[in-house]
Amino acid sequence: MSTNILGIETSCDETAAAIVRDGKEVIKNIIYTQIPTHTLYGGVVPEIASREHVLKINQVIKKALSDADMTWDDIDAIAVTYGPGLVGPLLIGVSTAKALAYAKGIPLVGVNHIEGHICANYLVDKKKDRKNPSSQDPQDDVKPPYMCLVASGGHSHIVRVDDYTKYTIIGRTHDDAAGEAFDKVARAIGLGYPGGPKVDKLAREGNAEAIEFPRASVGDSPYDFSFSGIKSAVLNYLNGAEMKGVLVNKADVAASFQQAVIDVLADHTIKAALDYNMKTVALAGGVAANSLLRETMKERAEAQGLSFHCPELIYCTDNGAMIAAAGYHEFMDGRRADLYLNAVPNLKIGER
Ligand code: KG4
Ligand code: ZN
Repeated sequence: MSTNILGIETSCDETAAAIVRDGKEVIKNIIYTQIPTHTLYGGVVPEIASREHVLKINQVIKKALSDADMTWDDIDAIAVTYGPGLVGPLLIGVSTAKALAYAKGIPLVGVNHIEGHICANYLVDKKKDRKNPSSQDPQDDVKPPYMCLVASGGHSHIVRVDDYTKYTIIGRTHDDAAGEAFDKVARAIGLGYPGGPKVDKLAREGNAEAIEFPRASVGDSPYDFSFSGIKSAVLNYLNGAEMKGVLVNKADVAASFQQAVIDVLADHTIKAALDYNMKTVALAGGVAANSLLRETMKERAEAQGLSFHCPELIYCTDNGAMIAAAGYHEFMDGRRADLYLNAVPNLKIGER
C-alpha cells in the first residue's frame, strides 16, 4: 500500500502545495510564486508575502488535490514547513495545515525547510508526466549516507545525511548565505531580484578569469564558508571603476564572481565528502539550480571517484514536493505534530 503526503510550503515567497507518493513520486506539484510582486521592492517584503500566502494557500492546495484527481480520503498525512523562515509566512502554512488536519482528521507532521531541500534529491516525477525518463532512471537514486551542500537564499551548509531523518552539520557560513551573495551582487550590477538566475544567465556571456575575486576560507574550519568578503570585493571593484570613470563589463563581473563562489562551494563539499569517507555528494537549495555549480560539482566529484546527484531544477527552489518527501520519512519514523505546532523562524537542521 502506498502513502500519499500533502506537503505545504510558505516559508518565504512561494505559496506551494504538492502530493507525493512514498516520499518519492511527485503526483502533483503546484507553486504560486510571489516573485513578480516582490520584484517591485527589490526583495521579499515579509508583510506582503504573508498577505499573498493568505490569498493563495487554499487555492494552491485545492488545485493540487483536484489536478491529482484525489480527495482528502486519499491523503495519509499533511506535512508543513514550520521553520526556518519568515515568521508571518510560516504561520500561514502552519495554521492552514493545522486547521485541515483537525477538520479532516488527518495526521500532521512538521518539517524543517532545509531538510526539505535535502529531501528534494529523492523526488522523481510521476511516470506518465516525465518529459525525459532517462534523466531520472531509478538507478540514479540517492540513498543515505551522503554529503549534501545546501545553498539557498538564507542558508549555506554542508550536511552529512546519515539517514533519511538524521543529519549532521559539517560546515556552515559565518556571514552571508551563498544565494544572498548572488542576490546582493545582482542588485549592485543592476540585474534586480531574484539575482541568482540572472547572474547565472549573464555569466554565460562573460569571462570567469577576467577579475580575481577572493576565495575565502574561514580560520581552521576547512568546511565553513564566508561570502561577505567576495561580495565586498565585487562592490569595491564596481566603486573603483566608477571613480576612475572606467566602463565595467557586467558579464565579466558576474562570471568572475560566480566562479569564485562556486570554487569555494565545490571544493569544501568535495573535501568534506572525501574526509568523511562518503561515496556520494548531492546538492540542494535554490543555488543548486545554478548551471555552473551543477556542472562543476559533477566534474569535480566524478574526478574523485564520487557519485553526484542533484534535484531536478523545479525541485531546487522552494516547493511543496520536497516538504512532502521530508514529511514522509518523518511520518514513517512515527513523528506527529499536534495542534500546538508553531512557527520556529530560527529552526536548526536536525532540531526536533
Ligand atoms: O531555496 P530558495 O528558493 O529559497 C530559500 O530557501 O532561500 O533559494 C532562493 C535563492 C535565492 O537567493 C536565489 O537567488 C538563488 O536561490 N538562486 C540561484 C539560482 N536560482 C536561484 N542562485 C544561483 N544561480 C541560480 N540559477
Ligand atoms: Zn528554500
